[in-house]
Amino acid sequence: MCSVVGYVGKNLSRAFVIEGLTRLEYRGYDSAGFACIHSADNSIMYTKSQGGISNLLRNFETFPIDGYVGMGHTRWSTHGAASVENAHPHFDCNKKISIVHNGIIENFHELKKMLQKQGHQFKSQTDTETVAHLFESLLKEHKNLKSAVLALVNLLEGAYAFTLMLADYPSLLVVVRKRSPVCIGKGEDEMFIASDLLAFAGKTNKVLFLPDECYAFVTRNSVELNDFNGVSLPVYFQVITVPWTADLKGGHEHFMLKEIYEQKKVIQDTVHNNKADENYLWKKLGLTRLQVQDLQVLKIVGCGTSWHAARVAQFFFESIANVRTEVFLASELRYQPFFKETNSVAVAISQSGETADTLEAIRFLRQHGMHTLAVVNVVSSTMVRETQGYLPIYAGPEVSVASTKAFSAQVAALYWLAHKIAFEKELITERALNAAENELLVVAEILESTIEKYKNDIIKKHAERYAQAPYIIFLGRHVSYPFALEAALKLKELSYIFAEGFPAAELKHGPLALVDTNVPVIIFSVLDPVLYPKLVANAQEVKARGAHLVAFAFEGQQELIQLADVVFTIPHVNPLLGPLAMTGLMQFFVYEISRFLGRPIDKPRNLAKSVTVE
Ligand code: G6P
Repeated sequence: MCSVVGYVGKNLSRAFVIEGLTRLEYRGYDSAGFACIHSADNSIMYTKSQGGISNLLRNFETFPIDGYVGMGHTRWSTHGAASVENAHPHFDCNKKISIVHNGIIENFHELKKMLQKQGHQFKSQTDTETVAHLFESLLKEHKNLKSAVLALVNLLEGAYAFTLMLADYPSLLVVVRKRSPVCIGKGEDEMFIASDLLAFAGKTNKVLFLPDECYAFVTRNSVELNDFNGVSLPVYFQVITVPWTADLKGGHEHFMLKEIYEQKKVIQDTVHNNKADENYLWKKLGLTRLQVQDLQVLKIVGCGTSWHAARVAQFFFESIANVRTEVFLASELRYQPFFKETNSVAVAISQSGETADTLEAIRFLRQHGMHTLAVVNVVSSTMVRETQGYLPIYAGPEVSVASTKAFSAQVAALYWLAHKIAFEKELITERALNAAENELLVVAEILESTIEKYKNDIIKKHAERYAQAPYIIFLGRHVSYPFALEAALKLKELSYIFAEGFPAAELKHGPLALVDTNVPVIIFSVLDPVLYPKLVANAQEVKARGAHLVAFAFEGQQELIQLADVVFTIPHVNPLLGPLAMTGLMQFFVYEISRFLGRPIDKPRNLAKSVTVE
């Protein structure tokens, strides 16, 4: 979502703020803005632009503002179009209060109406601007900064993290947090503020994650922390080292391609690193061995690609570890009745560990007394701090907005975890556990070798053809059905071609009406002896309607291979790992279609990598 970056200190702020925003641009790229305190007269100077940071940088060529107190923003639009007027920072009527904000002020309509009646002039359609005008009124009324901030937070509803810059208090920034993340880094005579500590990684490793429902007054050498009742809290900076090396595309045209090719190593790392740490696994998950042995139910939550990984993993936990597994879309779970079950554990799956819907779902499950775990890529994330245990997936930084390597790392980590649970329950032998680890390593090789085998064909023969399609249908059965959902999501987000994934047998109950000779239907096979012939029958139904059939088949599946117009064959693997073996090729296929269409692959329109609003 939006990102907030701030600086108060001995140096001019712009260089840090811009670098921080650039590192966090994965959170949104609809517009960008920068504000700083003018050292001569303490006025607030600012500039903003539509689009990403590169546009903002052009503004500085003619308007090179800078100051020792500065803050910036990149936006993922929620209220109002992605225009310059809606870009942050926003202001009060006198331009003495400035705000950059991540989150949503849910009651802004009522507040705005009230403020307009009082004569406040609004310049944007954003919810954020309301906070600046409201604070203007409160500051006048309270004449005291602390009580004005307290009054402000008592009036705001929603989830937010924002920074206020005040011309009348020119040596500080006010940082406020409810639900949305924000942290403060302490340097030598300087403080860094950011939505994600990645912004100041390498500059300091002393970090204060602002506790929920708290605000802080930040100067170059102090942080005064208070909760929303006005109670002053002690300030502890944790030492967290997040390695930062400028992300390079490693010779690839896009981060996505680089990340597709990193998957082999990522799966290997996920297996090796988790194995190296296996004696501490249950401790890391906050579980006793007895709890694992008695485990009966898993409730898994996630969004987007992480939800798809969870849907694939449902088959692992149920068939390997004999644990009934329910998978929920995080955004839906909280609004359903909750049924308490004994011996159950809740698991959040998330690349970023910051997705607001997933965080809220896990808070909800915890409130209902469940033990909560996170399977995450970013171990310094809010989700790790708010759950009772976590399992890292070792995908490394994923830059491209569309998730690739995090998906394969999640699937690999969850396959491994299912076997560890099964072993603890004495359902499988140590030999079977070792064999499973080996299977993952074999699949990692196949994931990459199938891309190599078919890449020239895809680039030369297929990308152009499928780029012309009006829409594309993906089919799967059993474990390949959630994979069909993931393929459809990848195609939609990257190429903007409408796509949908269906269980192959469901087609005849409606979606078959969509099939004609212009519609490519892509089917992901399975290695199950009972389901495979049924899947072939489904493929025949599609062919009979004249569809162009593309099959991701396993070697030797002649019936399907002969039926299809285009075939990609995959070596045999454990049937449950079929989707993982196909992952690289599927992603590459989608990548090339989107590349042919000239789409901005690493930053698709309207999307953001980390979605910190509900
Ligand atoms: C965003 C990203 C998706 C991702 C989803 C969940 O929508 O664009 O790629 O799958 O969030 O993110 P998480 O970090 O929780 O896995």
